Amino acid sequence: MTDAVRPLITGNWKMNGLTSSMAEFEAMLAGAGPLAAKADLLVCPPATLVGAFAAKARGGKVAVGAQDCHPKPSGAHTGDLSAEMFKDLGATAIIVGHSERRADHGETDALIRQKAEAVWRAGLTAIVCIGETREQRDAGKTLDICSTQLKGSLSDGSTAANLVVAYEPVWAIGTGLTPTTADVEEVHRFIRGVLTERFKAEGAKVRILYGGSVKPSNAAELMAVANVNGALVGGASLKASDFLAIAAGC
Ligand code: 13P
Repeated sequence: MTDAVRPLITGNWKMNGLTSSMAEFEAMLAGAGPLAAKADLLVCPPATLVGAFAAKARGGKVAVGAQDCHPKPSGAHTGDLSAEMFKDLGATAIIVGHSERRADHGETDALIRQKAEAVWRAGLTAIVCIGETREQRDAGKTLDICSTQLKGSLSDGSTAANLVVAYEPVWAIGTGLTPTTADVEEVHRFIRGVLTERFKAEGAKVRILYGGSVKPSNAAELMAVANVNGALVGGASLKASDFLAIAAGC
């Protein structure tokens, strides 16, 4: 990690984890102490576990976040959960616009922007995800897609405190494939440029995470790329030993 921005290693548990997963989370808390000097650690379990994890994490070195929220604070939206509800449970951040939500739930950039604003309304940090599909990459459209998604999903009130951007190439998620470090560098440099142009000094400090098949064996190499300020980790974040090893790679 060469940049001055403090790294953030985030685990996205997706739709995995039961109450019995507390032991794994406790192992993360137990091992996080020495790593906290180098990086911030955040785990986003399914909504069912946010409260229990946040209660367990109180005073510890791993923060707890959520994976999605509704744009509204409350109301007649059966089955949905608001940013305020997650804040109430002790969450500090919420992922919005993950490609799985874009694909499974048809989420648009405009909706993701509303969700990011909802996260801020609750006083939390929004982790806004962007990234191209395989077809888009093959067609040479990676930077165009990232540009469009950033433009549409980010709000004017973005600051380094309330926003984290996660670049996750869709084709790298859960596949074991990763872009070359040169490709990661190109996209992250591009994202940094978009952020600084729009948000000036704040944009220079917004953390840009890389996500997609990050594991202990490739984390250090990816984290060393310029403008990579941490990772958004899926599968490997389910195991404390892997998650902590990834954080150690910062
Ligand atoms: P994997 O680390 O399992 O590829 O998932 C990445 C991801 O989608 C994190 O949000």
